[in-house]
Amino acid sequence: AQEANTVRLSPERSATRISRHIYGHFAEHLGRCIYDGFYVGEGNTTVSHTNGVRNDVVDALRRLNIPNLRWPGGCFADTYHWKDGIGPKESRPTIVNTWWGGVTEDNSFGTHDFLNMCELLGTEPYLAGNVASGEVQELADWVQYVNHDGKSPMADLRRKNGREKPWGVKYWGVGNEAWGCGGNMRPEYYADVYRRYATFMSDWNNSGGVFRIASGANSADYHWTETLMKNIPHHLLEGVALHHYAVIDWSNKGPSTAYSDKQYFQTMQSAWKMEELVSKHAAIMDKYDPKKRVALVVDEWGGWYEVEPGTNPGFLYQQNTMRDAMIAGVTLNIFNNHAERVRMANLAQTINVLQAVILTEGDRMILTPTYHVMEMYKIHQEATLIPVTVESVTLTMDGEELPAISASASADSLGNTHLSLVNVHPRETQRVTVSLDRIYNKVEGRMLTSRDLRDHNTFDNPDVIAPTVFDGARVNGDKLTVTLPPFSVVVLRLAE
Ligand code: AHR
Repeated sequence: AQEANTVRLSPERSATRISRHIYGHFAEHLGRCIYDGFYVGEGNTTVSHTNGVRNDVVDALRRLNIPNLRWPGGCFADTYHWKDGIGPKESRPTIVNTWWGGVTEDNSFGTHDFLNMCELLGTEPYLAGNVASGEVQELADWVQYVNHDGKSPMADLRRKNGREKPWGVKYWGVGNEAWGCGGNMRPEYYADVYRRYATFMSDWNNSGGVFRIASGANSADYHWTETLMKNIPHHLLEGVALHHYAVIDWSNKGPSTAYSDKQYFQTMQSAWKMEELVSKHAAIMDKYDPKKRVALVVDEWGGWYEVEPGTNPGFLYQQNTMRDAMIAGVTLNIFNNHAERVRMANLAQTINVLQAVILTEGDRMILTPTYHVMEMYKIHQEATLIPVTVESVTLTMDGEELPAISASASADSLGNTHLSLVNVHPRETQRVTVSLDRIYNKVEGRMLTSRDLRDHNTFDNPDVIAPTVFDGARVNGDKLTVTLPPFSVVVLRLAE
């Protein structure tokens, strides 16, 4: 075991709350995420469902305390006309999903279906509006339709379609990837377009108000963030987005399971890049918004590989191994540590697409390693951040270096302190010496690891990877020692 890892928990309690919305998810009309993932149709007789939504999926996501769900895209959002997805299902027009596989959809999963599903999940909806191929009026009408309690054309239409009370949708994306599939706009132009749209997104007396999120930068496009922060008046802006995927090379993304050691290293390099991205985008935001009113919303993140052999390339279906658990553990630690500015994030995507937490096949469902990390980390939701200082040994490959250890900590309202630790090293155990913020008497923990880095859960072997009890931590006053196996995620609970 290497000896030189230290983690120090600051004895001064911060005032920063880790928003539960950092643990959000994303469900696009893409491949088998909505159709055949969440939604199997009201007439399905082989899978247990509620109004067409799978009950096993709802139960699994509720166990994550899923805080929010972004829909209907992604790139799809800027092609979607919400009025085609309301009213009697048999008379809804079709839509061709031009971004994802060219499939024709029947619009049977629309606004009511999604928002009622969010109620089942106990989660907050985050609707992404169509800016690039839509109209200001169209988006303004959507807000009125879902949020207005009084008498108005859209509220009346909603009632006619069977829903008396508004859903009260707070989170709204004003377009998606406006620099790419969302219109190929320049940031200066998009900032002006955003101003028009945001002006007409009234809160309709929704108790939580509306929270408008500008389509954000692609990874390290700092000019994008700077331009939005400078050119959009802040009374129109509650959040600015950022998208970053852990990808090796867009033209050669590598397989999801049979990756080489080098590809593992490269993926983790891209995942760790999130630290730099969030720091630099946040620093730009600080310049224009020192009081941190505007949130940084990382509304797409996760690993992106080649699709599983034999599946539709436009459906982005990939398996999920311990590498994905490493990405999730490291990224969520980064978000926690930047919780002052990062107040929302969405893993891409919930079911059967990219770094999914759930995979389905017929009436079967499996939970991925990423699901288990999300479940283990949910104890950080709404807890108070404890700043950590980490000194880590490095993992090296062909002259490039990465930290082997990632950490974040928080204190909950019940008097528990939680520390989440990741050892991304593929071969070496790491000994970590932790200086605690106070004296503790008790430590207990859970761990996610496996025999092989490339292990994954399958429909025939669904529990290859699942959390186990961790007994590699010893506490002595304000000192803790932890022994982390290679490629492991550990969450510790410390009590006085
Ligand atoms: O998540 C898949 C796609 O990635 C989304 O549709 C788009 O926003 C991003 O490029």
